[in-house]
Amino acid sequence: MRKQIVAGNWKMNNTFQEADDLINELVEFINSNDIGDIGVIICPPAPYLELTSDSASESDLFVGAQNVNDHESGAYTGEISAAMLESMNIDYCIIGHSERRKYYHESNEMLSEKVNRAIESSIQPIFCCGELLPEREAGEYFDVVKAQLEESLFHLKEEDFEDVVIAYEPVWAIGTGVTATSDQAQEMHAFIRSLIKEKYNENIAENTTILYGGSCNPKNARELFANKDVDGGLIGGASLKADDFAKIIQSF
Ligand code: PGA
Repeated sequence: MRKQIVAGNWKMNNTFQEADDLINELVEFINSNDIGDIGVIICPPAPYLELTSDSASESDLFVGAQNVNDHESGAYTGEISAAMLESMNIDYCIIGHSERRKYYHESNEMLSEKVNRAIESSIQPIFCCGELLPEREAGEYFDVVKAQLEESLFHLKEEDFEDVVIAYEPVWAIGTGVTATSDQAQEMHAFIRSLIKEKYNENIAENTTILYGGSCNPKNARELFANKDVDGGLIGGASLKADDFAKIIQSF
């Protein structure tokens, strides 16, 4: 059985105090509710990774970074390496978020190197893929997502690919309040799973967790997560309020 996951991407939000309060509320929620086998991952801004990791150790929460550099180490001012994350016991790392692709010009080729660095350091990539609005409107969305997976992930060996979590995030749905319909999400998730089966095998395809991201909130999470191939969500805005995030975790 593949893992169901709800991951919170805080992006560049929260002061240290706000982050501390939010993580404590989430720890309290996790410790006082039975969430079964659902994996809950918090991806705070990098300066709060240690704080989050310390608080998370009192619960079943996992911690993820929002980005990692594509080089191993060296003169890359301001950057964070996979080895650093590993040395802080960080479990996951978001790679290829559309905001990184757009504002920091991260190419599929660069992202393949980021995936490599994460895997070498035993950090599980949460690999984001998804099409822009014009690509959706032009009917090119399958081709775009296929290229993203082929160029950044499908070089991995089977045993390494098994550590990857995929997040389908149609760019037109991120932070816009426009969510993909349940059918649109299911259609793309099934397509992604079919590509994994073609490249690797049925067993790996069936065991790969594929999250949906893009304006997922407590109102629409249940319908999205009810789809056969949607294994949870990567949540932006709604992960900044403990109550909303908790409701999403309870939406399976
Ligand atoms: P959103 O962001 O939930 O605010 O749309 C999702 C994401 O960017 O991962």
